[in-house]
Amino acid sequence: MKPYVILNAAMTLDGKIVTASNSSNISGEEDLKRVHELRRNVDGIMVGIGTVLADDPRLTVHKIDANPEDNPVRVVVDSKCRTPIASRITNRDAHTVIAMANEFKYDFIVTDRYDVFKKRGVDFFFSGDKKVDLPALMNYLSSIGIETLMLEGGATLNFAMIKEGLIDEIRVCIAPKIVGGVNAKTLFDGEGFDTMDEGINLELTDSFKLGKDLILTYKVLY
Ligand SMILES: NC(=O)c1ccc[n+]([C@@H]2O[C@H](COP(=O)([O-])OP(=O)(O)OC[C@H]3O[C@@H](n4cnc5c(N)ncnc54)[C@H](OP(=O)(O)O)[C@@H]3O)[C@@H](O)[C@H]2O)c1
Repeated sequence: MKPYVILNAAMTLDGKIVTASNSSNISGEEDLKRVHELRRNVDGIMVGIGTVLADDPRLTVHKIDANPEDNPVRVVVDSKCRTPIASRITNRDAHTVIAMANEFKYDFIVTDRYDVFKKRGVDFFFSGDKKVDLPALMNYLSSIGIETLMLEGGATLNFAMIKEGLIDEIRVCIAPKIVGGVNAKTLFDGEGFDTMDEGINLELTDSFKLGKDLILTYKVLY
């Protein structure tokens, strides 16, 4: 069992989701509203620890009119629990689950840090050896009632998720901008595939202009 997973991201025409110096104001106001509408319509929203450390996101619905119950469950994929205690993702605006790897479990659950997270209402899910087992995490999220999950990056987690066959749909906002940079992260980084034949095939199902940006929706064909 797994939730229906929608990867949503904003990128420049050259596929960058952030510059090498971590500037990530990519899309326009209309697109931000679209993203928050999507957040309101899903049960869960997931990011990797790299995104939490870089952006300190809230991952709540706050750019459109919304009630606290509209906020999806927030999930951080964070093998060693590097999430800072003061990060906004641990506030009480929404429920948060930190997914960790088994190797780090027993040293962590005896720490004061673990107690502080638990007092804030943060839940933990343990799977995998040194990295989070993503299929097991999807199964767990499904078991706690998450039927639709929005994946909000970053580049490393996006690739790991698509390689595991866990992404159903991709919605990408392409801003009319080019930033270049060999060290700037793209929509999918990770180790990549060696050949085009191994690449994941997509089917374009929708496209429209939104302000200055272009929104593309793809179904993932595994
Ligand atoms: N433009 C956009 O739409 C957008 C959206 C989101 C993020 N971003 C940008 O993306 C950047 C962050 O991307 P990132 O690639 O550095 O980090 P990331 O994808 O957010 O997080 C990757 C981390 O997740 C952890 N992880 C645990 N289990 C994993 C598994 N099975 N597979 C893969 N990762 C696993 C790993 O750290 P541990 O081993 O320590 O657990 C890994 O380093 C930020 O600069 C952010 O601004 C842009």
